[in-house]
Amino acid sequence: MISEKIDIQIQPVPNSKLDSNEKLELQFGKTFTDHMFVADYENGKWGDLTIQPFQNIEMSPATSFIHYGQSIFEGLKAHATNDGEILIFRPEANAKRLNHSARRLCMAELPEEIFLEAIKTLVHMDRAWMPEGEESSLYIRPFMFGTEEFLGVKPSGRYRFMVILSPSGAYYSKPVRVKIETQFARAMEGGVGSAKTSGNYAASLFPAREGFAEGYDQLLWTDAKDHERIEESGTMNAMFVLDGKVITPKTSTSILSGITRDSILTIARDWGYIVEERDVLVSEIKEGLQNGKLTEAFGVGTAATIAHISEIGVDGTDHKLPEIAGREFSNKMAVYLNDLKRGRVSEYSDWLFKV
Ligand code: COI
Repeated sequence: MISEKIDIQIQPVPNSKLDSNEKLELQFGKTFTDHMFVADYENGKWGDLTIQPFQNIEMSPATSFIHYGQSIFEGLKAHATNDGEILIFRPEANAKRLNHSARRLCMAELPEEIFLEAIKTLVHMDRAWMPEGEESSLYIRPFMFGTEEFLGVKPSGRYRFMVILSPSGAYYSKPVRVKIETQFARAMEGGVGSAKTSGNYAASLFPAREGFAEGYDQLLWTDAKDHERIEESGTMNAMFVLDGKVITPKTSTSILSGITRDSILTIARDWGYIVEERDVLVSEIKEGLQNGKLTEAFGVGTAATIAHISEIGVDGTDHKLPEIAGREFSNKMAVYLNDLKRGRVSEYSDWLFKV
């Protein structure tokens, strides 16, 4: 298929894997559609843009990203409207963030037009995989990694960019119990925490497993230096309603600049809420839990959307938050965001990218 500027070679599958008699497995990230997008970077430019059957990829054991971690990714979602149209939420923001991650990891940047055309064409081809239901969407996972075969520590001279699609339901099926983590750190000031790079997720696994063993679903990371400030929650950014204000840690070199985070803050300000992006101290969260001024806590992210936090563990004590049903801000925002992504509201239409 030839678009105005971007030439993508299409190799369609002879037969779709979709079996209309079988119910789609919608556990997050378990099912993949028929096709994937692939492009390679070499000698300073991107080429070989292809949509091909979803399949394994072959690589040399010396491929650089396996050893030194030049690997970045994005996550975004496509939703169906009531009329069966498909809308992708804020893909330009993901294209920009991919390049922010690429710069920090010393990788090749990808022209935004390639990013947009790749996901638009791929989602269009695999639109039959769009799952039904208000909680479900077609999750889009773009990613890039260094492909030079070389064991010296240096930036790879070659990269591969790919996109795969996964029809998915809710990431968290129920409100989450989180622990404020004050021993381990996910990222540190000056490090790569603001880049969406695989190593940040690898760093989170051991402490998260310790947390699971204690009955928590997630951790609330704190700053690496003195563990006094809340940072984010690994799979999502963290937000609170404290004393009637919407507060969230300000972004930094150690916090991912979430697109759902930005969307919610923009809408909340437009709705007239007082929004504060600032240092959020563990001590004020603890105090708010004790004196009842912390009325809502939730994670926000593409996969997680709005994940209510039911309980927070601080310094060995678990504190229950108010009932979910009474949470005015996050409940209203969750409904509005879902409607917005499905084209049911007239505001913020420039955030929607029609397929
Ligand atoms: C997303 O929300 O898209 C993410 O990338 C988080 C993920 C690691 C589940």
